[in-house]
Amino acid sequence: MLRGKTALLRTDFNIRNVQDSLRLESSLSTLKFLLTAGATVVILSHRGRPLKKIKGRGSRVTISKTETLRLVLPFFGKHLRSKIIFFPHFDFEKIRITIRNAPSKSIFLLENLRFLEGEEANVPALGKILASLGDIYINDAFAVSHRKNASLTQIPKFLPSYAGLLLEKEIKTLGALSKNPQKPFVVILGGAKASDKIGVLKRFLPHASAILLGGVPANTFLKARGFNIGTSVFESSMLPEAKHLLTNKHIVLPVDFLSDKGKFLDIGPETTRRFLELMHHAKTILWNGPMGLFEDARFIKGSAALARAISKSRAH
Ligand code: 3PG
Repeated sequence: MLRGKTALLRTDFNIRNVQDSLRLESSLSTLKFLLTAGATVVILSHRGRPLKKIKGRGSRVTISKTETLRLVLPFFGKHLRSKIIFFPHFDFEKIRITIRNAPSKSIFLLENLRFLEGEEANVPALGKILASLGDIYINDAFAVSHRKNASLTQIPKFLPSYAGLLLEKEIKTLGALSKNPQKPFVVILGGAKASDKIGVLKRFLPHASAILLGGVPANTFLKARGFNIGTSVFESSMLPEAKHLLTNKHIVLPVDFLSDKGKFLDIGPETTRRFLELMHHAKTILWNGPMGLFEDARFIKGSAALARAISKSRAH
């Protein structure tokens, strides 16, 4: 069924640098599956949140090193037999002709889709143009599937669409956890966004023995409680919801922090100790988002301690 077909593969290569290769490694199973089945693959992804947009033909923007998808090429050079052909432009006519004339099992990668005005605006016409590059569409980008972006919600309107192997694995794993996790079940939520995490928190709250908060979700809950969080980042739109959820005794907030200029940037030693104690008894642990600004070595301790504990733990 796939032989001779062109598959558009939506991946999530939203990485800071190539050392951060987990998302690239995780994409290999679907990619190899498609190639082995004889398909040509066109990889679509976003990276970061570029503000400048290409507004149609002739419009140009400078794509910086921190926003280009070119950075993933050496990784795939090492892990795939054939070379990826990268399109550094969005001249869709040229792209379509190149793909059409390429031998089967070729692999293409488009530049960061978020440079296209229609991607985040979820414009159907962009979905149609992207769809015209292939015969089938595969979503393997679980981490961005909550976004109403053209490459996620519009392309499937024009092509037969399927879930990739990674998406399937994530849905199966999370589906099982949200129905019948082995208890004690500890959920750890951190990272730089709170709005996306509230949904996760509410989904798992009925089953979780404890939900440990770090990062921006913790700051938002602490702020909702009336705690002085200095200049720490929080999400004001989430305060009413956080206030409402605060009464739940399963939500565990940090009690000390590592900070810089009044900003909480990591959980402190006492919080780490308490979190580790709760994790120690867990039979299931779900972790989403670091406890602080781990990219800065001064603020990695909390996240690293939790990661070490998980690696030693027998919990699922
Ligand atoms: C992620 O890394 O969380 C996803 O790629 C989504 O990124 P976004 O929050 O910029 O949409």
